[in-house]
Amino acid sequence: MSGKLTFTMIKPDAVANGNTGKIIDHIIGKGFKMVAMKYTRLSAEKAGEFYAVHRERPFFKDLVDFMISGPIVAAVLEKDNAVSDFRDVIGATDPSKAEAGTIRNLYAKSIDANAIHGSDSDENAAIEASFFFNAFERF
Ligand code: CMP
Repeated sequence: MSGKLTFTMIKPDAVANGNTGKIIDHIIGKGFKMVAMKYTRLSAEKAGEFYAVHRERPFFKDLVDFMISGPIVAAVLEKDNAVSDFRDVIGATDPSKAEAGTIRNLYAKSIDANAIHGSDSDENAAIEASFFFNAFERF
């Protein structure tokens, strides 16, 4: 049985474009409960740590520069089968390949500015959530 929690970040493009509210509504409408949420800004150091798994990829510097370009919204979401169901809700990493009606299809412009992040495993969901929230901040 998969876990009940996943982690998400609404990225700087979606926040800057005024899509935060619509995206939160979309997520709740798909049956996810927000158990923690924070409007914040990443430092270069923190963005680099968050995406450390991509450190050797050619897009790493652009990814970090983009993620620190403006505020983000970090959240922990609860639902049965949370990680996999949420990845279905956000759609493919490249918005041109994201299915109609997914968050990236609706709100993302490019593979870099792709509106939203979703954890890819239960293990990473726990690691990523702990980046932004301690146990007492979760409800
Ligand atoms: P995200 O799911 O947040 O995880 C890593 C991010 O790197 C990804 O979304 C994309 O926004 C970004 N990225 C940029 N170029 C690529 C690429 N070629 N492949 C995968 N991710 C990429």
